[in-house]
Amino acid sequence: MKSTFALLTASCLAASALLTAADTHQSERLKKFNDAKFGMFIHWGPYSLASVEASWPIMEPGTWAISEPDYRALRQRFNPTQFDAKAFVKLAKAAGQKYMVFTTKHHDGFCMFDTQYTDYKITKSPYGKDIVAQLVEAAQAEKMPLGFYYSPPDMNHPAFRDTSKLSATNWAGEPARPEWPLYLDYMELQLRELLTRYGDPFVIWFDGLGTQQKYGGTRFHELIHGLRPMTLINDRIGLTGDFVTPEQRLPNGIPRKGATVDTVDPNDKGVLAEAPKPEDFQTWETCMTINDTWAYNKNDKKFKSSTELVRALIDAASKGGNFLLNVGPTPEGTIQPEFVERLTAIGDWLKVNGESIYGTTYGPVQALKFGRMTAKGKTLYLHVFDMPAGTLELTGLKAKVASIKALSGGAALKFTQAGDKLTIPVTGIKATPHATVLAITTL
Ligand code: GLC
Repeated sequence: MKSTFALLTASCLAASALLTAADTHQSERLKKFNDAKFGMFIHWGPYSLASVEASWPIMEPGTWAISEPDYRALRQRFNPTQFDAKAFVKLAKAAGQKYMVFTTKHHDGFCMFDTQYTDYKITKSPYGKDIVAQLVEAAQAEKMPLGFYYSPPDMNHPAFRDTSKLSATNWAGEPARPEWPLYLDYMELQLRELLTRYGDPFVIWFDGLGTQQKYGGTRFHELIHGLRPMTLINDRIGLTGDFVTPEQRLPNGIPRKGATVDTVDPNDKGVLAEAPKPEDFQTWETCMTINDTWAYNKNDKKFKSSTELVRALIDAASKGGNFLLNVGPTPEGTIQPEFVERLTAIGDWLKVNGESIYGTTYGPVQALKFGRMTAKGKTLYLHVFDMPAGTLELTGLKAKVASIKALSGGAALKFTQAGDKLTIPVTGIKATPHATVLAITTL
């Protein structure tokens, strides 16, 4: 009896030691993720040929002028001969992006990697080469963390839904059918491939569509943690995961544990009563498109301006979040010039002002009218969107200020501080396009 107890205790201790080690790795990775702040999302597949959104044309055919058979046939023409994985990574670097997330499989089920478990894949297209493998190699060469978007919904798999019907009729999947467990096994096999043959994925980015409980997320969390203890998991497989993923919008307030991402601090009158403690904070990442579509679309000209995009990145950072900005590559395998231009502009801004973004967290003064604030240790970064004439007034700052300088250069700035009001004469400050940053050192 005693020995069984001792054995049990020993194995529990061993298990908890393992858990602690995994936890440490995880928190290291989570810190790396949080510090990175800015990533590149890539939505790419044969759908780029038709200038239609990824997968949605077959799920909601009314909105897009392409039939399901025509959509399915696109893979027979998909041949992005100009694709250069190194150029994608180089562009992300020039933009100042610190990680990338690539669609290995979207809801349509087409795989951009050489999976053994379906023929509906890139290596059976005219292109014939494994795109994910090339990206992994290029990313590794540049030490660029690469994550995998992997869609649990899969319109092509006969155990996910009855594929004799149109996707539009049953795209949510049919978990009540006896075949369903076979689909979950397929997911497991593919995730095993992605986790064992394609480096050390930075993150597995699920995208669950509505109710996600049907996937039994715990099984996949365990699988991922077992094979890759460092890999992070987002929140779209029915479990909270490592970070939450608001889409196409930036949350209003600073996300806290147990709160929805849009919750603003109850005392928030533009000034947080108290900055949240790190343990009250939940990690989050907003994903956003540069125009209105995830996939390449030659007709979508609704590009956000570089200024809007830089300020969106700042806004995310000022609330402690990450910004995952999407590109949809062309059917030839290039990134369209409008995207390159904007990404380069963000990168240029970051070259001067990067220290106010990377490795920062939410600033103690929130919801400023003229800009945003981030923080790193004792330094606060004031991002001024619209520079006032004469003097800048900041209220709500409790810490005592030691010195202030503009990241764009120049001498230390004069200032006065009375109570919670800081006054900075700004005449003569060299403004940078999109936002000028003042680094405020506090005591
Ligand atoms: C939405 C879209 C999906 C896209 C995703 C990215 O869920 O439906 O197509 O991949 O956003 O977050």
